[in-house]
Amino acid sequence: MFTADLLAGQTAIITGGGTGLGLATAQRFASLGANVVLASRTELHLADGAAAIEAAVPGAPVLTVVTDVRNPEDVDAMVSEAVSRFGRVDILINNAAGNFVCKAEDLSPNGWNAVINIVLNGSFYCSRAVGRHMIANGHGGTIVSILANYVWTGSAGTIHSAAAKAGVLSMTQTLAVEWAQHKIRVNAVAPGPIESPGAAKQLWASEADVARITDMVPLKRWGKPSEVADAVTFLVSPLSNYITGDVLTIDGAAWLGRGTFGFVS
Ligand code: HXC
Ligand code: NAP
Repeated sequence: MFTADLLAGQTAIITGGGTGLGLATAQRFASLGANVVLASRTELHLADGAAAIEAAVPGAPVLTVVTDVRNPEDVDAMVSEAVSRFGRVDILINNAAGNFVCKAEDLSPNGWNAVINIVLNGSFYCSRAVGRHMIANGHGGTIVSILANYVWTGSAGTIHSAAAKAGVLSMTQTLAVEWAQHKIRVNAVAPGPIESPGAAKQLWASEADVARITDMVPLKRWGKPSEVADAVTFLVSPLSNYITGDVLTIDGAAWLGRGTFGFVS
């Protein structure tokens, strides 16, 4: 069961941990006793995130490292810094992402690459760096990647993100098998619409967008970042020790709701 010391002494890297869902997860981990490492590009996001954790969990050990996950050297240096500071890394959350709405026929190669590089390549570089550390030290660990519920459906309007997240899903299944022998569990969560200023700016700028998306969810509400943190915490904890290579969808049945033939208003 969830106890206050569920993650005591463990070290967790959360990419994109200074904002939104990543910050909610980092805050939850800190409240359960973990050392947390926030890694993203923008110093201000990291400083604000660390301050929010300090306010919620005074004295929690937090390391911030400016990192662009698209750059494997940056990623390797960030993992080394985390190991130097906390001795080892037990948990990786691949949460960093980029996204914007653009018709496929209008998307430039640079636009495609921007998102593929952050989501697919970045998740690989981070998994590789942390996996190497866990394998070399023999202590095992857990990796959770943040996907989106459109891994089950595709996503008209965000082909780059849909393709990248589907790639990370395949990576999750592949690594679960390759790294089981090293006691590394690899899972993912697939959220639907979750309240988040960062995503709102990129994807649902108008009230009409928000109303349309709310209506697509059978539970008729948006998810909260804390509800994603709940699921991620389950997947990194011993409560899920026999679960690996799987995906937990957190979307109020939004993607299943596409098959209701209109019987549910
Ligand atoms: C068309 C666009 C565009 C847009 C950028 N580009 N925004 N094309 N429509 N709205 C194009 C640019 O013109 C350029 O191509 C290329 O993308 C790279 O743009 P840069 O601005 O140089 O990229 P960069 O500075 O690397 O920033 C990456 C980014 C940016 C992804 C474009 O938005 C970002 O940093 N996002 C991080 C935060 C974020 O997106 N959070 C939302 C996560 S929500 P050209 O050809 O002109 O050079 C999420 C899932 C939600 O992921 C799921 C809901 C269910
Ligand atoms: P967000 O606040 O915009 O989070 C994105 C984070 O990624 C930011 O902290 C950003 O920090 C970081 N980032 C972007 N590019 C990076 C790079 N190159 N290197 C390192 N970090 C980078 O949005 P969010 O809604 O919380 O999204 C978090 C995760 O949830 C993403 O994986 C997203 O796809 C997923 N998700 C969200 C929703 C939703 O409804 N909100 C639904 C499904 C899935 P910097 O700008 O400081 O780099």
